[in-house]
Amino acid sequence: MSKIHAAITGVHGYVPDYVLSNKELEKMVDTSDEWILTRTGISERRILKGEGLGVSDMAVHAVKGLLEKTNTRPEDIELVIFCTVTPDLVFPASANILCDKAGLVNAWGYDLGAACSGFLFGLTTGSKFIESGMHKKVIVVGGDKMSAIIDYTDRATCVIFGDGCGAVLLEPTEEAVGLMDADLHSDGSGRTFLHQKAGGSVKPASHETVDAREHFVYQEGKQVFRFAVTNMAESAATVMERNHLKPEDVAWLVPHQANLRIIDATADRMGVGREKIMINIQKFGNTTNGTLPLCLWEWEKQLKKGDNLILAAFGGGFTWGAVWLKWAYSA
Ligand code: UT7
Repeated sequence: MSKIHAAITGVHGYVPDYVLSNKELEKMVDTSDEWILTRTGISERRILKGEGLGVSDMAVHAVKGLLEKTNTRPEDIELVIFCTVTPDLVFPASANILCDKAGLVNAWGYDLGAACSGFLFGLTTGSKFIESGMHKKVIVVGGDKMSAIIDYTDRATCVIFGDGCGAVLLEPTEEAVGLMDADLHSDGSGRTFLHQKAGGSVKPASHETVDAREHFVYQEGKQVFRFAVTNMAESAATVMERNHLKPEDVAWLVPHQANLRIIDATADRMGVGREKIMINIQKFGNTTNGTLPLCLWEWEKQLKKGDNLILAAFGGGFTWGAVWLKWAYSA
């Protein structure tokens, strides 16, 4: 019997309507459209407004759209992996809440936390449930409501992040398409450079933690940048080299959208031209777990069966990696 591969058979996304522009940020903190654009490549980002709305509310839109376009019945979904750093609640998992809201009555699920690399880790993990034969329909969701943990008085972080969510359906195939290889890494010694100080078991919420603004993203940008440039590029190159993929074999680079300069460095290391890179950072900013599925969603119509895609990410932890995907269908 030939090997079972896990293929993405559909992708859908959701971004909230509210557009937070650089111009609006100029009125909130000491920054400028020019600084943000030249240092990051971002012009605007989306923000989920409304009382009582969490990341699962964006995920419901993405998942319902995904089920509709792939003609999949909600009750046929067996597993949901929800990659996020901004779950609705500390517990239960947002995957559980999403299953309830989207009518995935026969699925089990869990949240996966690997910061900006979460979707890569989730895609790889979800694929193993397919490849092993345990499941036939797995949804991997990547999304964040970053506005819930961003300090809009901190110009170093508030200009970067946005809200958004994407979801893919994984199904088995005996064709040589789908997830082909993954190079994934975690190095917890990098945790000091990018984290949320309070709200976990080390430092539960208190008046003091709130007063000290410790429930927001803390980032030492320059340090993170240094590691991101090197590791994301090296991981992408590793996946290419060990699979004998030359730059001309790669149809698309799908990079995490943290900073245009990190994306360019990765493409340069791979030898891949700008025309082959999926870039939407200018309109969505860094949606953390949402960046990769949102790119796939936006470019879906241009993708052809057999296209070689290299997905690459770097995030808090540190976590990073790259995945080689052979696209499984033509739109
Ligand atoms: O997705 C998860 C992983 N995260 C990343 O990959 C992010 C990696 N880091 C970065 O993308 C960049 O480091 C940032 C975009 C966060 C910052 O860019 P930078 O070129 O590294 O700037 P910097 O932090 O070195 O700051 C340079 C200057 C500082 O002023 P002084 O000390 O030189 O006077 C900052 O205070 O720019 C200042 N600055 C700003 N100025 C205007 C920082 N943020 C802003 C701002 N507007 N929003």
